Amino acid sequence: MIAPKTIQEVYDTAKIEDVVQDFMPLKRYGSNMKGLCPFHNEKTSSFVVSPGKNIFKCFGCGKAGNPTTFVMEHEKFSYVEAIKYLATKYNIEIIEKQLTEGERQARQVNDSLFVVNDFAKDYFQEQLFETDRGKSVGLSYFKNRGFREDTIRKFSLGYAPAGVNNFLKYAESKGHKNEMLEKLGLSKNNRDFFRDRVMFTIFNLSGKPIAFGGRILQSDKKAPKYINSPETEIYNKSKSLFGIFQAKSAIGKLDECMLVEGYTDVISLNQAGFENVVASSGTSLTREQLRLIKRFTPNLKILYDGDKAGIKAALRGLDLALATDLNVRICLIPDGEDPDSYLQKVGATAFQEFIDKQAKDFILFKAEILLEETANDPVKKAGVVRDIVSSIAHIPDRIKQSMYLKSCAKMFEMEETDLMGALNKVKEQLEKQNRTKKAASQRNQSAKIADPTGFPSMEPGQHGGEVFDKKPGPSSKPKDEMQEKDIVRILVSGGDQAFDEKQSVAEYIITNIADVISLFESAEYQLVVNDVQKRLKDKKEVSSKYFINHMDQKIAQTAITLIQSQFDMSDGWAERDIHLQTQKMPEFNFTEDSMDALKKFKYKKVNQLILKNQELLKKSQDEDDMKSTMTYLKVDVKYKAIRSQLAADLKIVIAPFMK
Ligand code: GTP
Ligand code: MN
Repeated sequence: MIAPKTIQEVYDTAKIEDVVQDFMPLKRYGSNMKGLCPFHNEKTSSFVVSPGKNIFKCFGCGKAGNPTTFVMEHEKFSYVEAIKYLATKYNIEIIEKQLTEGERQARQVNDSLFVVNDFAKDYFQEQLFETDRGKSVGLSYFKNRGFREDTIRKFSLGYAPAGVNNFLKYAESKGHKNEMLEKLGLSKNNRDFFRDRVMFTIFNLSGKPIAFGGRILQSDKKAPKYINSPETEIYNKSKSLFGIFQAKSAIGKLDECMLVEGYTDVISLNQAGFENVVASSGTSLTREQLRLIKRFTPNLKILYDGDKAGIKAALRGLDLALATDLNVRICLIPDGEDPDSYLQKVGATAFQEFIDKQAKDFILFKAEILLEETANDPVKKAGVVRDIVSSIAHIPDRIKQSMYLKSCAKMFEMEETDLMGALNKVKEQLEKQNRTKKAASQRNQSAKIADPTGFPSMEPGQHGGEVFDKKPGPSSKPKDEMQEKDIVRILVSGGDQAFDEKQSVAEYIITNIADVISLFESAEYQLVVNDVQKRLKDKKEVSSKYFINHMDQKIAQTAITLIQSQFDMSDGWAERDIHLQTQKMPEFNFTEDSMDALKKFKYKKVNQLILKNQELLKKSQDEDDMKSTMTYLKVDVKYKAIRSQLAADLKIVIAPFMK
């Protein structure tokens, strides 16, 4: 845990233009700066940075945020990682909330594991490039496989010498403890673990070496082709993907990830310009790996060998990938080849054409393969239908589900309604499993958190039939959103402006909505007004800078979204050079703006209050409760008077029957 003081200091110090320019060039553009958006592919710059507001915005893809959000997006950092990164950049001391002794020790161990792996990586590289044996055996092996030197360096490939304990001795001479080397799997029984092998370094997302794979030089039936580092505190096989560090930015830009089976496939494809490639290092695909991919893109293309094993491996990953809500396409490489060898055989252009042509939707691929195997046996076919339908049931998106049902109905020559019936059955079963699972985990006190890797839970009453129904909750837009948004927009962009001599815009607004302040329908906006109310009470400022850099990421994002909509406007205005002297920019017109917004907001809310009061009135009348009836009637009159006044100001005509 990082102390709030540190976070605040980061927010106060980090400059958006510095932070962005560490990753990409920007050009001056009036008071702003511009560049090619790092979050989508583009040829003309629509990525704008506003040093004044300390935010960025892309007019192409719509991404916007502050320095923290920028590094979170760009580097796929968590919030804490982003704050740490910025703190380090600006030499801000990271004060951590008290770690327990155990946490502190674990942290220290992890840090030193990285240090030792880094040391080993450098050693293997040096062996490859600087020693005779390394050059004649290792480097020439890679070169024979067609890897260029820049590629070899990009992937930190290396060579582990043939002796019994060359590395161990060298590492110890440099002060590394054998205990640490053993833990990392670099040594075993006082001998080097990797001997006379070419080395592949496995990195985590932020580019730290977490493990190694070593490939034998000659094909040798006795020894395994590859040996890999064991799992450690810093290497969890099922959560890592080989190549992710080198591929992550391309995956984001192309909005697609390609998945292959081998280290050499990743490297070879990358060298040929296919940079969005990762591999799952010899294990079958896991949920965590798919989630990792999903952080960058929903589109996954699997490139597997076209042999039986490749197809099996592909099919195994299907339901998992679907449950992760990835759009999966599959492309089988011709039998006998793997992506690396096929690419080297046909060249990059033909390879690209091949995958464009061959890539098939995953479910349809599965259906096709299985159907081929049934040879028109009706019993087998029924089994296949059930199998496919159960795959479809794993897709969380119901519109997608219904589209798949359509295509499969055609393929199986069946009625869609029959498939739908089967789908609903499977879903009911999944729901039941889910409920039992949930109940079990609730009963099991020791399991504090329900299995986060479980299937997406289906809510009771969520049946396959209602494909287009909308889930209630925060995603459905409240009907008063426009008015609420206006109020909040003014608060975050000009709350600290003077409304008149006596009060600020924020004070004016908050005092005026005091009676309805808890009635916001949007939870997002409610959060902001509550925050403003508290700030004012504490006599603290409520500037847009405060909101943009708010420690609550939700509030910061709301503020940025609202503020940048004005940013659009001012940007466009400046471009078209409209008489700025005579006409005030909307953002400088806070007094009028806020009075207007406030009236609209209150008008809506008063209408709500009237309706609520009328319900109470009716109830009291039904119950013959005279005293309450009188009170509610008075309230009704008062509300309606307020409404009439507001309506008059807003030039709204109230229908006679509502009066
Ligand atoms: P090359 O034969 O050098 O082209 O390797 P490749 O990357 O094409 O390997 P292959 O397709 O045979 O295997 C795919 C992946 O499975 C490899 O990249 C390794 O991660 C893993 N793998 C292959 N063989 C072994 C093995 O013998 N042991 C272990 N632990 N993993 C292996
Ligand atoms: Mn291969």
